Amino acid sequence: MSLFLRIPRTATLALLAAGAACAHAQLSEEVPFITTPDHVTLEMLRIAEVGAADHVIDLGSGDGRIVITAARQFGASGLGVELVPDLVEKSRANARRAGVAGKVEFRTQDIFDTDLSSASVITMYLLPEVNLQLRPRLLRMAPGTRIVSHDWDMGDWKPDRSVKVDVPDKKVGLEKSSRIHMWRVPAPVEGLWCAGAGALRFAQRHQQYSAQLQLPGASAQRWKGRIVGAELPAPVGGPLRPALHWREGALEVKAGVAGLAAGTRFERAGDKAACGA
Ligand SMILES: C[S@@+](CC[C@H](N)C(=O)[O-])C[C@H]1O[C@@H](n2cnc3c(N)ncnc32)[C@H](O)[C@@H]1O
Repeated sequence: MSLFLRIPRTATLALLAAGAACAHAQLSEEVPFITTPDHVTLEMLRIAEVGAADHVIDLGSGDGRIVITAARQFGASGLGVELVPDLVEKSRANARRAGVAGKVEFRTQDIFDTDLSSASVITMYLLPEVNLQLRPRLLRMAPGTRIVSHDWDMGDWKPDRSVKVDVPDKKVGLEKSSRIHMWRVPAPVEGLWCAGAGALRFAQRHQQYSAQLQLPGASAQRWKGRIVGAELPAPVGGPLRPALHWREGALEVKAGVAGLAAGTRFERAGDKAACGA
């Protein structure tokens, strides 16, 4: 069932009037269709560094413009999911006209029933509540997946980058600008990781973490850092700390410190309460 259909129409309209940036607005039943202006679309795709290797999924794809631009100007493949069948038909016709019908697909489908696992980039121009409903699923995507949202953020999951783009002919709201927010899905590192008797314990809140490293015969090292997709770069300043790379089920030391060589692999401790036990 569509989430938009669960939001009262008046609330939806009020939210859009409060901040949506669009050159063109149209309502279909309860579901608002508002287009992202072309220059904002381009900036969304640039900020996500979309390229030919990417697969872009636009959640609520309207007339298909984001996915079509990703294919035509950046060489990406794409999928648009949209509740309104007429918009899906229009998107397919637009894709044919743009010469990218072989690279993109449009489905009449609810975003909440859509498998997102093939995406390396997710784009969306929805509503704050919808973003928050999607957030747990987005956070479970492959580390490094880029999420780009037009105008709306994701509560306390702060974006890695935000930019403001002038939209002089914005028809709703008071501001003549749009905001673009970009997140890289952070690797899930919370918990205990072991390399033999060496123990690495993390507490994590989205991109922020604090770590404690305990190597046999040495005093504990503690530091805080920021996760960038699958990478945990060594913090800048202060004592030297290891740089780490997340792979499914393992954390690999990329740049070591005394007593911890590059290439060392920490594996998830699972049920173990301590390492080397
Ligand atoms: C604000 S428009 C954005 C259109 C397009 N992504 C763009 O930026 O130009 C949001 C679109 O999401 C669609 N939509 C709303 N709820 C949806 C849902 N649950 N599943 C699929 N599409 C949905 C609406 O029909 C509408 O076309």
